[in-house]
Amino acid sequence: MDAIKTVHYNKPKLKGSLRVPGDKSISHRAIMLASIAQGRTVVKGFLDGEDCLRTVEIFKRLGVSIERNGTDVVIDSPGMENWTSPTKELYAGNSGTTARLMLGILSGSKVTSILTGDDSLSKRPMKRVTTPLHSMGAAISGKEGGDFLPLSIVGSTLEGIDYNMPVASAQVKSAILFAGLNAKGETIVRETTVSRDHTERMFEQFGVKLERDGNIVKIQGGQSLTGANVKVPGDISSAAFFMAAAAMIEGSEVQFVDVGLNPTRTGIIEVLQQMGAEVEILEKHGETGEPYGVVKVTHSRLEGTEISGEIIPTLIDELPIIALMATQATGKTIIKDAAELRVKETDRIAAVTDELTKLGAKVEATEDGMIIEGPTALVGGKLQSYGDHRIGMMAAIAALVSDGPIEIKDPSCINISYPDFFDHLSHLVLARNEE
Ligand code: S3P
Repeated sequence: MDAIKTVHYNKPKLKGSLRVPGDKSISHRAIMLASIAQGRTVVKGFLDGEDCLRTVEIFKRLGVSIERNGTDVVIDSPGMENWTSPTKELYAGNSGTTARLMLGILSGSKVTSILTGDDSLSKRPMKRVTTPLHSMGAAISGKEGGDFLPLSIVGSTLEGIDYNMPVASAQVKSAILFAGLNAKGETIVRETTVSRDHTERMFEQFGVKLERDGNIVKIQGGQSLTGANVKVPGDISSAAFFMAAAAMIEGSEVQFVDVGLNPTRTGIIEVLQQMGAEVEILEKHGETGEPYGVVKVTHSRLEGTEISGEIIPTLIDELPIIALMATQATGKTIIKDAAELRVKETDRIAAVTDELTKLGAKVEATEDGMIIEGPTALVGGKLQSYGDHRIGMMAAIAALVSDGPIEIKDPSCINISYPDFFDHLSHLVLARNEE
C-alpha cells in the first residue's frame, strides 16, 4: 500500500452483503490455546491480519507447527510442556493482545524468552499485567520495573491468586487466567465491569473447566488441554466501520453475514439503535461457543446520545467510528468513562479529536472521552492514521460523508486487523451501481 491513500466518492450509498474477516481477539486465542494443547487443532475463519500473524510466528519459534491455507489453519503442538526456548526474541509487533496474553502464558511455561514490540507497543503499559503476574511468582523483568517492553520472562512455578481488577481489560483478565491454568491451586479474577469473555469461552472449547459467576471467573491450575475444532466468526469491530457508514448515509442498506454477536462485544449495535439507526438481527447461531449471525443495518436519521459506564468495554474499539457517526447526528453525543482510549495503539481521544476537527467537525476532548456536536458538513482534508488501524479506517469512512477527498497518511496499518478493508469498501459502494 502507498504511503498516502486518497479516498473520494461522490455521493456514495452502501448496498449489499459482506462477510468481514475473522475476529481478531478470537483468532489470537485460537492459536494460543491450540499451541498450549497437545495434538491437532483446526481453526476456520482465522484473521490473517498482521497482529494475529505475530502470534503465529511466536508459537512457531517455540516449536509449534502451524500451517496456514488462507483462513484455515492447522496447528500441531507438542503441548506447552515440550516447547523449546527460542533462540531469538519473540516479536509482538503492534499487538497488545499478543504481548499481554503471552506474558501470562510464558510466565508459567518451561521456556526462557524475551518479548519485544514495535515503537507504539513499547510505549503501552505492561505493568497492569506484570503486577498480578509477579504476585503469582512470575519471573518477568525489564526496564522501569517491568512496565514496558522489551521484557524477559523466565518460565517458573506459579501460585494461584485472588485478584481484583483495577481496570476493565480482557487482556489483563486473560493474562491472569492463562497464568492460572499453569499455577498451583485456584486463581480468581474479579472484574468491576465485565470485559470480553473470549478466553473463557475458548478455554471451555478446549476442555478447560472454569467457574463463572457474573463478574467473577475461577480456574483450577494444572488442567490439560486437548486440541479442538474452532470456528472464528467475523469481527464485529471490523464490521462496525461499515455498520456506521450504512447508518450515516442515506439510501444505504448492508447485511453482515457470519458476524460475531458475543454480548460482551455488541455495544455498537445498542448504540446504533440508540442513535436511531435501523438494525435487525436476522439470524443468530452458535449458542455453545461464540454466538454469530446475520445483521442488517439501514440508514435512518441519527440523533446524539450518551455512551458511558458498563457499555464502554463492549464497544471500546468502536469509539473512533462512533465519534465520526456522531458528527452526522443531530445534537450532542457524550462519551465518558473511556480513559482506556488514551493507552490504545495511539491516544485515540487525541487522535480522533484532532483528525475530525481538521474536517470541520465539532469535537471536544475530555479526560475520559469526547463531546461531539452534530450534525456538521465535513470537508475533505489530509489525515494521519498515527499507525493506528482504527484511526486509519475511521479516516477512510469519513471520506464517504465529506465534501472533498480525504488523504490518509500511512494507511498500511489497516492491515493489522482488516487487510481487505479497501476491497470491501469498494464492493459495498459499487454494489449500488448494479441495482
Ligand atoms: C482485546 C481487548 C481490548 C481491546 C483489544 C483486544 C483482547 O483491550 O481493545 O483490541 O483481545 O483481549 P483491553 O483489554 O486493553 O481493554
